[in-house]
Amino acid sequence: MQREKVKQVLASESGREVLVKGWVRTRRGNKNISFIALNDGSTIDNIQVVADNGSFDAEMMKGVTTGSAIGVRGSLVESQGKGQSVEIIAGEIILYGTADPEKYPLQKKGHSMEFLRDIAHLRFRTNTFGAVMRIRHAMAYAVHHYFNTKGYYHLHTPIITGSDAEGAGEMFSVTTLDLANMPKGKDGKVDFSSDFFGKHTKLTVSGQLEGELGALALGEIYTFGPTFRAENSNTPRHLAEFWMIEPEMAFYDINDNMDLAEDFTRYLIRYALDNCSADLAFLNEMVDKDLLERLRFVADNDFIRTTYTAAVEILEKSDRKWEFPVGWGRDLQAEHERYLVEEHFKRPVILTDYPRDIKAFYMKQNDDGKTVRGMDVLFPRIGEIIGGSQREEVMEKLEERMEEMGIPAEEMWWYLDTRRFGTAPHSGFGLGFERLILFVTGMSNIRDVIPFPRTPRNAEF
Ligand code: 4AD
Ligand code: MG
Repeated sequence: MQREKVKQVLASESGREVLVKGWVRTRRGNKNISFIALNDGSTIDNIQVVADNGSFDAEMMKGVTTGSAIGVRGSLVESQGKGQSVEIIAGEIILYGTADPEKYPLQKKGHSMEFLRDIAHLRFRTNTFGAVMRIRHAMAYAVHHYFNTKGYYHLHTPIITGSDAEGAGEMFSVTTLDLANMPKGKDGKVDFSSDFFGKHTKLTVSGQLEGELGALALGEIYTFGPTFRAENSNTPRHLAEFWMIEPEMAFYDINDNMDLAEDFTRYLIRYALDNCSADLAFLNEMVDKDLLERLRFVADNDFIRTTYTAAVEILEKSDRKWEFPVGWGRDLQAEHERYLVEEHFKRPVILTDYPRDIKAFYMKQNDDGKTVRGMDVLFPRIGEIIGGSQREEVMEKLEERMEEMGIPAEEMWWYLDTRRFGTAPHSGFGLGFERLILFVTGMSNIRDVIPFPRTPRNAEF
C-alpha cells in the first residue's frame, strides 16, 4: 500500500483505506481506546488516529507516546470529534521508534523560544518551527519562480573569496594552514603563500561584485547564497551566517531598481498569503495577532519613496528621545528606521541618496558631490530589509573613490575590467532572506527563522 502525506489525506474524501507515517504529537484516551494526533511535517494539521487498544500488542502500544515515530494503516472515516473532517480508524500500527517520555524534551507544549534554541535539533517538531520552515521553503521557491518568470539567471557566486573589498562587515578567514604554527613573513605578518589558495581567503559577505560581472554579460542575474559576517552584533536582526538574494541588472537605473525591489517584495508577501494560509493562520493566532493584517497591508499599498536627507529632517523634528544621535551624515539605526516606517509614514519606505561616506565605494555618485545613489528598503518591525544601489559605471570616478577609501585597485583588476570593457549603467540590491522570513512569519528573533543560527559564541548544531 502506498503511503500518503497527511496533508493530502486531510483534504480527501472518507471511505477508503490509507497508510500514513509520522510522529505522535499527543496520545489521549483511556484503557480501551486511544486518540493519537499524528503529524508528518506536510502540514501544520495533525490527523487523528483512533485505536482500539485491545486490537494491538500491549507492549507495542506502550511505545506509542509523544515523539515516537509510527505508521498507521486503517480506514479513513468522517470524524465524530470537532476540529477535523476525517480521521483514521487504525487497522495496523507500526512502531518505528520510541521516545522515552522521561527524557523526550518536547513532552509538553508552550516552550519558550529560548529553550527551543537550546534544542534546535528537535525544534522542527514543534508547530511553530514546522510553520516557519514550510514558509521559509515557500519563500525560497517563490524567489526562484519570480526571477525565472522575468528571465533572470540564477548565478552561483563563490562562497570562498579572495577579495574583501565589499566592506560590508568583518570577514571569517578560510585556511588550511596549521593554526598552531602559522608561517610568518619578514614583516611578522602571516605568510599565506603556502596556504591552499596561495593567498589569504575569506568567506564571502556578498555575491554582488561577482554578480555584477554576470549582469554585464547576461543582462539580469540573481544570486541566492549564504553570506558570512563576523560582526559582533548580538541583536534580534543579525546573524553571522545568513542567506541573501542579490539581483543585478544591466541598464537599470536607481528608479528601475526601486521598482523591482518593491514589486519583488510585494510579490513574495502575496505568494505567502496565497500559498501558506494554514501556517500563517497558526502564526497569526499563536505568535502575532496583527500578522495577516500587516502582510495584506504591505502587499496592497505602494511604498513611500523619499531621500535620506528628508528622512533626517523628519527625525530631527520629532520629539523622540533617541538612543543613537540623529544628524546628516550619520548612519540610520533600527530605531530611526522603524520610527519612519511605523509611526511617521505608516508604510514601507525606500530611502535614497545617502551620504557617500557611509556607503560602499561602488555606489553611483550624484552630481552634488556629497551623496550616492544608494537605496535602503525599510519595513515595519524589521527596519532595513533591502540594501542596494545604482553602481558607479564610470571608470575614473570609481577608481578615484577606491583610492579615497583605501581599496587596492590592483587586487580589483577583474572588477574594474567591467568598467574598462563595455561598461554600462547597472543596478542591484540585496534582500536579507531571514529578515524577509521574520517579516512574513511575525517571529521576533532572527535566530528562530533559520534552521541552525550562527551567532557570536553559538555554533553547536
Ligand atoms: O545592506 P547590505 O550589507 O548590502 C549588501 O551586502 C550589498 N552587497 C547588496 C547588494 O547591493 N547586492 O546587506 C543586504 C541585506 C540587508 O538589507 C539585510 O536585509 C541583510 O542583507 N543583512 C543581514 N541579515 C541578517 N544578518 C546580518 N548580519 C545581516 N546583514 C545584512
Ligand atoms: Mg545595508
